[in-house]
Amino acid sequence: MSDTPAPIPIILDCDPGHDDAIAILLAVQSPRIDLRAVTTTFGNCSVVDATRNALRILTLAGATTTPVARGAAGSLAGASELGNYVHGVSGLDGPEMPEPAFASSALSAVALMRQVLDASAHPVTIVATGPITNVATLLQRHPDMLDKIAEIIFMGGSTGRGNHTPTAEFNTCADPEALDVVLGSGLPVSMVGLNLTHQALATPEVVARMQAMNHPLGRTCGEWMGFFGSSYRAVWSFESPPVHDPCTVAALIDPDLITWQECFVAVETKGDWTRGTTVVDLHDRYERPPNARVAMKLDPGRYWDLVLDSIDQLGNR
Ligand code: BDR
Ligand code: CA
Repeated sequence: MSDTPAPIPIILDCDPGHDDAIAILLAVQSPRIDLRAVTTTFGNCSVVDATRNALRILTLAGATTTPVARGAAGSLAGASELGNYVHGVSGLDGPEMPEPAFASSALSAVALMRQVLDASAHPVTIVATGPITNVATLLQRHPDMLDKIAEIIFMGGSTGRGNHTPTAEFNTCADPEALDVVLGSGLPVSMVGLNLTHQALATPEVVARMQAMNHPLGRTCGEWMGFFGSSYRAVWSFESPPVHDPCTVAALIDPDLITWQECFVAVETKGDWTRGTTVVDLHDRYERPPNARVAMKLDPGRYWDLVLDSIDQLGNR
């Protein structure tokens, strides 16, 4: 018998997006991950653009057999906050990208999620790196699928301050009601918030390692970081951009990369100024049972070695 653990089956629900793009590449390349589908949502751009971007990224990665399905155009409450002010007009501005070499599925994101869950012999992990609307809709529409889901790991929220508003992170602000559904689902939920992802900075040294790769994929990643970095400088005065979304996939690949804390997490759905803010009870002030595992500390050297080695291996395939 081999000691190699079986790859983790995942559905990646995303809004690419420069950092979503790196998360997709990591999921495609890692032998620890079995990427069963990519589903898309509004968020960094319209869902139409996000779907086109997902197809283009998978084309660039040579992963044209990965099913892609288009999801929500707006939140459960019918709003559509977009993050083009960070990711550009296309949602993935910067380098030239190939046209998609394949088409998205005729199924909706939720229908494809259901199909993947139904067909899987083992529970599937859902990784969400955009507004979590599709996942909430799946849980509401298909409660019979709950025991087919191993875990929901999402990038969003924070134990501290926000980015889209002073207190709310973009993904949770874009659909607080959807996150409320996920947090109340009773499923294992892991939250990778800004408090963690701001430790995952694409420093000049990281970008130089991308640019030094001897293939177009590495150089494309370097140019993505250039565009993303200029937005982070202009909007938030960051010297280097935090590469949020791949932290979720990396946490599945390397369970020792992040330290976690189990605690009660709520999301504000009503505040005048705080809608979309996550309330993370690190000191058990509410004395409520934990409903999430919250990412606290990242090993950045180990993170970047994993991400950069994966990009390099994929580019050399
Ligand atoms: C999140 O919002 C988007 O800008 C990123 O893709 C990430 O998912 C960070 O707040
Ligand atoms: Ca994202």
